[in-house]
Amino acid sequence: MSKISKTPTNDFCPQTLFLYGTYDDEGRPDFGLFCWFSYIWDGELGVMACIGGDKLTKENIHKRKVFSANLVTEALLPLADFLGNTAGHSPEKMSLDLCTEEGRVLPVPVLTASPVAFELEVRQFLPLEGGEVMLCKIHNVLQEDSLANESAGSPEKLAAIAPVRTTCNRYFSWNGSDLGAWGEAMKRL
Ligand SMILES: Cc1cc2nc3c(=O)[nH]c(=O)nc-3n(C[C@H](O)[C@H](O)[C@H](O)COP(=O)(O)O)c2cc1C
Repeated sequence: MSKISKTPTNDFCPQTLFLYGTYDDEGRPDFGLFCWFSYIWDGELGVMACIGGDKLTKENIHKRKVFSANLVTEALLPLADFLGNTAGHSPEKMSLDLCTEEGRVLPVPVLTASPVAFELEVRQFLPLEGGEVMLCKIHNVLQEDSLANESAGSPEKLAAIAPVRTTCNRYFSWNGSDLGAWGEAMKRL
C-alpha cells in the first residue's frame, strides 16, 4: 500500500465520545464532551484521559479528583455537540437544565440518558505542555438494564444504544453513516 506522510493528525482513526460530568463550586453539574479517552492496565482496568488547555471540567476535576464519563449515543448527540462547543463558564451552558443523577459510589453527576457511565477517581495527574493526562481508577460502571439481557447479543445491544464515533472533525454512527460536522448537531437542540 503506497502512503504519504502527514503532520500529526488522528484523522481516519475513529474515537468513542464521552461527556465528563463534574460538580462546580456551587454544586452545579457541568458536562463537557471528550474523545481523548482510553483504557490502561494497572493490576485492574483503569482509564486514561487527556484534557487540553484550561476549562471548567479540568478546574472541577483538580478540586474534587473525581468525575463521570458518560457514553455519547445518537440520541444524545445534539446535546453532546452543544456541550463540546460551549465553554463551561459561559452563561448559556450554566443555565442548561440537564437530567442527571448522583453516582452510586462517587459524588459525581451522571447523565440519566447515557446507557453506560464510568465513575472515576484520578490517581495521577501528568501535566504536559498545555495539556494534562489523568490516570484514573474505575470505582463503578453503570450500565442500562437492557445491556444485561442475556437473550440479546452484543451486536444487537450496540446497535440499540448506538454509540457515536468521531474523526475528521465529524461524527459517525455505530454503522459508519455520517452524522455531520462538529457544530451541526447542536442546531437541532
Ligand atoms: C467532538 C469533540 C471532542 C472533544 N474532545 C476533547 C478532548 O478529548 N479533550 C479536550 O480537552 N477537549 C475536548 N473537546 C473540547 C471540550 O468539549 C470543550 O472545551 C468544552 O467546552 C469542555 O467543557 P467545559 O468548558 O464545561 O469544561 C472536544 C470537543 C468536541 C466538539
